[in-house]
This record gives sequence, C-alpha cells and structure tokens, in this order.
Amino acid sequence: MARAVILGTGSGAPARVVTNRDLEARMDTSDAWITQRTGIRERRMGGDAVKWSDFMVPACRAALDAAGVAAEDLDMIVAGTLTSDKRMPSGGCTLQTLLGARKAVGFDLAAACSGFIYGLTVADRFIRLEPRLKVLVVGGEVISQRIDWDDRTTAVLFGDGGGAAVLTGTDDPDRGILASRIHSDGDLWDLLYIPAGGSEMPPGREQDPRRDHAIHMRGNELFRVAVRSMADVCAEVLDEAGVDPSDVDIVVPHQANLRILQAVAQRFSIPEDRVFVNIDRYGNTSAGTIPLALDEAVRAGRVSRGDVVLMPVFGGGLTWGATLVRW
Ligand code: UT7
Repeated sequence: MARAVILGTGSGAPARVVTNRDLEARMDTSDAWITQRTGIRERRMGGDAVKWSDFMVPACRAALDAAGVAAEDLDMIVAGTLTSDKRMPSGGCTLQTLLGARKAVGFDLAAACSGFIYGLTVADRFIRLEPRLKVLVVGGEVISQRIDWDDRTTAVLFGDGGGAAVLTGTDDPDRGILASRIHSDGDLWDLLYIPAGGSEMPPGREQDPRRDHAIHMRGNELFRVAVRSMADVCAEVLDEAGVDPSDVDIVVPHQANLRILQAVAQRFSIPEDRVFVNIDRYGNTSAGTIPLALDEAVRAGRVSRGDVVLMPVFGGGLTWGATLVRW
C-alpha cells in the first residue's frame, strides 16, 4: 500500500523579536521566571502590523521549492490555523490564490495547536487512497494579536510563526508516514479557549473586546494533561508502526513548554539530544510549532533519509495527536 511521504518543508515568522527583557518592561515578570519555567528566551511578534499570509506564503513557497513541486500542480491545501487573514475565506483558500494553486482545493482545520498534525493525518489518509495527490499541509498563527497583556500567565508564552510541508504518495516501503493518530476531548474545552468570535459571543457582544478575543488558559492543569496525552499518543503510533522508542532518531514535538517536552521524552527514555527544541527562539506558535521546528531540523541537517521522526502535539479543544515518519 502506498504511503505519504514528505517531499519538502518551509517555515516563516514575522521579523520583530520580543525578548523576555522586553516583556519585563511591560508586565510583572522576569527573564529568570520565563526561562526557568518555560525555556522561552524570545519570540517573534508581528502584532497588528502583520497578517498571517505575510509569513505563511514565503513558508509555503520554500516548502514547494524544497519539494520541487510547482504551486499549480498542488491538488490540496490543508491549513491548520485559527488566525488566517480573514474569518472568511479560509486560510486554505487564501493560500490557494496567493500561491496560484489553481487546481487545488483549500480548506482549514480548526484544531488549535494540533492543526498541523491533524492536517498531516488528513493528508496521509487522502494520499493512501490516491497516491498521486500532491498536498500542501500548513500550520501557523498570528497569536500576538490574541494576547491579553494584563495576563502574565499567558502573555509570556506565545509567539507568531508557522511552516509548511508538501506530501505525495510513494511505493517505497522504507519511507513515509508510518502512523498518524489524532484525538480530542471536548469536555476539557475550558483549559484553553478564546471566548469571542463565534456565535456565542459574536462581534459587538464582547464585554472587553481585547480580553474576550484573547487566549484563556488554565496552565497548571493543562500541563498535566499535555504530558499524559502526548505520551499516550506517542505510545499509540509507535505500537501501530512496531517501532521501539530507542529507534526514534529525532522527536520534533509541539513547543509549548520545555519541561513538557522533557517529561514526554523521559517517559520513553529518549535522550534530550534527540529532542529538537526551538522554543527558546519562538515561544509557542500554536499550530506553527511543529512545521517550524521540522523545517529548522531538516535545514540544519538533523533529519536524514531513513531517520525515524516522531511529532507529538496537544492543544485547545482539547486536541492531541502524533505523526511518526520514516524520512
Ligand atoms: O499549546 C498549549 C498551550 N499551553 C500550555 O502548554 C501551557 C502548559 N502549562 C505550562 O506551561 C505551565 O503551567 C505555565 C508555564 C503556564 C506556568 O508554569 P507553572 O510552573 O505551572 O507555574 P504556576 O502557574 O504554578 O505559577 C507559579 C507562580 C505563581 O505565583 P505564586 O502563586 O506561586 O505566588 C504565578 O502567579 O508563578 C507566577 N507566575 C509568574 N511569575 C512571573 C505565573 N506567570 C508568571 C510570569 N512571570 N509570567
């Protein structure tokens, strides 16, 4: 049976860097607290001067170049995002027109941080059915516009950025997506959510527009669920593929908190040097973290043909999932 293979990756982020010191000047926090509790040193923040497509289009073009695929040959664009340029059309349709992917179908997956892994899973299932398909999967956010600057427990965590991957089918039994699983638990919605913008609180009904459109999070509880759910879904994809954790060459995890990544790796006795970390430079870019980190890992020569790559994620919904690839 054909497998989905990743042909190329790309990434992008706004140019403006906001350091922990910059945040110290803005709220009651410290570089020491942020670094020790999260591993974050700086993040990119476009703020109101940047829109999603400004950095996602270059990310997609870089992925298409690396894959050697022309935009007009794409069949599908799957966008994991909550912050594309407009409420309508979808980010997938916006990318379709900006890239000139005339014959593709573009659509979005609203899975918060898990958007890219949800997208890889959808692409994997389509490609298994139709191996000739060329699919662009993207994940990225402009989270700096969704921050309540009076809430230091969330404001220090997030940043803007994202990335993309081009996939198609292969008959090569030694390559491709070995397993990809996604889950959700809507009962836990209030651990991480944005109150306004839907039909429950439509435009004009906000009490405090800035705050109601911002991320609300119960970080402590989320931390525990995150470690447990990511570890469980890693075990699930490793079992399904018959891969031993010691055979994982690199983990490219959701970058939400350095301590969460370390805890998940410890569950499987995966040494820290096999976990790719860039949270220090980008913070949590939600659906952007995995494609951004994957692209950096690939371009840094950390991922070679034949390597086993494990990508676990969790996020608002709650949603979680993992994709296991032999590169
Ligand atoms: O993509 C998914 C998104 N979210 C996550 O993955 C978040 C998961 N959770 C976490 O990463 C962590 O729970 C946080 C980083 C959010 C918080 O770290 P923590 O070690 O769980 O800290 P805490 O919430 O237990 O707070 C410890 C202390 C509190 O002070 P007191 O009550 O001990 O006096 C907080 O008020 O740290 C205080 N605090 C801060 N201090 C300085 C909370 N935020 C800050 C801050 N600067 N930014």
